[in-house]
Amino acid sequence: MKVEERLSQKKKAVDRELELILPEEDSPLFQAMRYAVLSGGKRFRPLLALSSGECFGVSQDVLLPFACALELIHNYSLIHDDLPSMDNDDFRRGKPSCHKAFGEDIALLAGAALLTLAFEVLVRAPVSANLQPQKEQLIIEIGHLAGVRGMIGGQLMDITLSPEELTEETMHELILKKTGALIVASVKTGGLLGKAGNSEFKAIVQYGRNIGLAFQIRDDILDSEGEERREKNLSPNYVSLFGNEVSEQRLKSFVGIARSALEETSLESEELHYLASKLLEWP
Ligand code: IPE
Ligand code: IPE
Ligand code: MG
Ligand code: MG
Repeated sequence: MKVEERLSQKKKAVDRELELILPEEDSPLFQAMRYAVLSGGKRFRPLLALSSGECFGVSQDVLLPFACALELIHNYSLIHDDLPSMDNDDFRRGKPSCHKAFGEDIALLAGAALLTLAFEVLVRAPVSANLQPQKEQLIIEIGHLAGVRGMIGGQLMDITLSPEELTEETMHELILKKTGALIVASVKTGGLLGKAGNSEFKAIVQYGRNIGLAFQIRDDILDSEGEERREKNLSPNYVSLFGNEVSEQRLKSFVGIARSALEETSLESEELHYLASKLLEWP
């Protein structure tokens, strides 16, 4: 099977599992949660979790609940990110954002409910007795990386830093938290559950950090090309700070560093390589 096909099967498995986690229910809150999660995301973080786990020999059944929990956290962060008090974004994935479709009150609750649901899914995730310590460690890591020292800390930097404070160094720190933290959590999922050795674990984290940087730069390049940016609250954008050429160059360079990290430790994963290079072309 070709790599695209294997990834597409993984994405289908994630989508099926998310449907099971969020069954249809006759309540506006449930509908808002389903609307946000089941609306055509790329499932990039689950794919990273499944592919990294596979390269350390973990079965997909074990990985799926963790992969889905990461996607729930990601979707909660997007609902809140789009709110008028944050980015004030009316659209998400080409459709009205959650608060535009359900109102701000319901959207706020739907985001909070997805976050708590994610931790319920994590704690419930079935693993064999010999993986319990790794599971516990992973839940701590995910909580840490999604929180005030990770993703939320990055979102705070995003809304509070003044233009003078936005040097290359602070911008990279911001991105590593806002976007990189959850991506690192995704690859750590595979590394921890697969009991990766020290150097392999370091390599997969190095891959994740650089993929995180590349991912947000790519998002900023796409964002700066879009017309709708003028309507939104302006948040730090890599392209407006460093220009198009530098951004394209850095995107390539971070993807290159990520791929070298895999090669240097002979982590043979066609899928992780593919996901990295896809960032150079993904629309
Ligand atoms: C968008 O994430 C927000 C960023 C962190 C840049 P994705 O590009 O992964 O969004 P979906 O889930 O595929 O829509
Ligand atoms: C979103 O970042 C990141 C999080 C929600 C953590 P952005 O604001 O840059 O992403 P988009 O462009 O709205 O998807
Ligand atoms: Mg934002
Ligand atoms: Mg935004």
